Amino acid sequence: MAQILDGIRVRDEILDELRPRIAALPRRPGLAVVLVGSDAASEVYVGSKVKTCASLGLVSEKITRPGSITTAELLALVDSLNANEAIDGILVQMPLPRHIDAQQVLERIAPEKDVDGFHPVNVGRLSIGLPGPRPCTPNGVMQLLRRAGIDVAGKRAVVVGRSDIVGKPMAMLLLHAHATVTICHSRTVDLAAECQRADILVGAIGRPAFLTAEHIRPGAVVIDVGINRLTERHLVEGIWRNDGIALAEFDRKGKILVGDTHPLDAPALAGAWTPVPGGVGPLTIAMLMTNTVEAAERRQGC
Ligand code: GUN
Repeated sequence: MAQILDGIRVRDEILDELRPRIAALPRRPGLAVVLVGSDAASEVYVGSKVKTCASLGLVSEKITRPGSITTAELLALVDSLNANEAIDGILVQMPLPRHIDAQQVLERIAPEKDVDGFHPVNVGRLSIGLPGPRPCTPNGVMQLLRRAGIDVAGKRAVVVGRSDIVGKPMAMLLLHAHATVTICHSRTVDLAAECQRADILVGAIGRPAFLTAEHIRPGAVVIDVGINRLTERHLVEGIWRNDGIALAEFDRKGKILVGDTHPLDAPALAGAWTPVPGGVGPLTIAMLMTNTVEAAERRQGC
């Protein structure tokens, strides 16, 4: 059985380390979270971000706008947050409705308030190894590896998924940590063979239980970034192969979460593995809090 990489424990450790830094600031850090429309998953994520801010004594401003908002109106909102002295960090929750030009919105956020690390200036800084906010989920994965004592240097890392939010920055962070990095995607020929070479395998494709025994090298470190919500019993039966515990949970709640790696194959084969839930997920918010505190420290001259 794999060593379980416990994201909740590492999250709590990171949040505890932030408390004295927050207390030392002249002004409490402020985070604005912008939520457009009524995407159910986004509402849950934004709710946890706001709650975590409160638990640390950060000021958070949750700004909700209807899905009918125009790009111009959203840009004007970002402008007002850029100019707001009490706000150190701005996060516009993705995905945005299709009619909104998301790239334009992300580029409008002042790079020094970009706590997601999505602004092209910060993407560029990551690319050439300059300091700056790093995207929260991949940075959380790096923290998890570091704090579990897993050495990345010289290891073969395979990242499955090439999104701007996770896959690409994940590959870049692993590269800066001296891994030999491969990025795989939907057009990769013989994905299983690529994955089988991985000492560190990262699943970031958003497809439930997609990486199975054929993809996982025995003893590999398997990092699961996926959070997929299943609401159909036959899918649960297919994935968990009639495992009683998972089916009982599904029958009780009417839904169950599964990552991008297979929840039976991954722990059976891996040397270490991040469960879903409780693995990578909690780290994303911890790194958002870290980026917000760092933005506040820079803006307040600390
Ligand atoms: N949607 C899913 N993950 C994220 C994230 O890390 N930041 C933002 N802004 N939106 C997201």
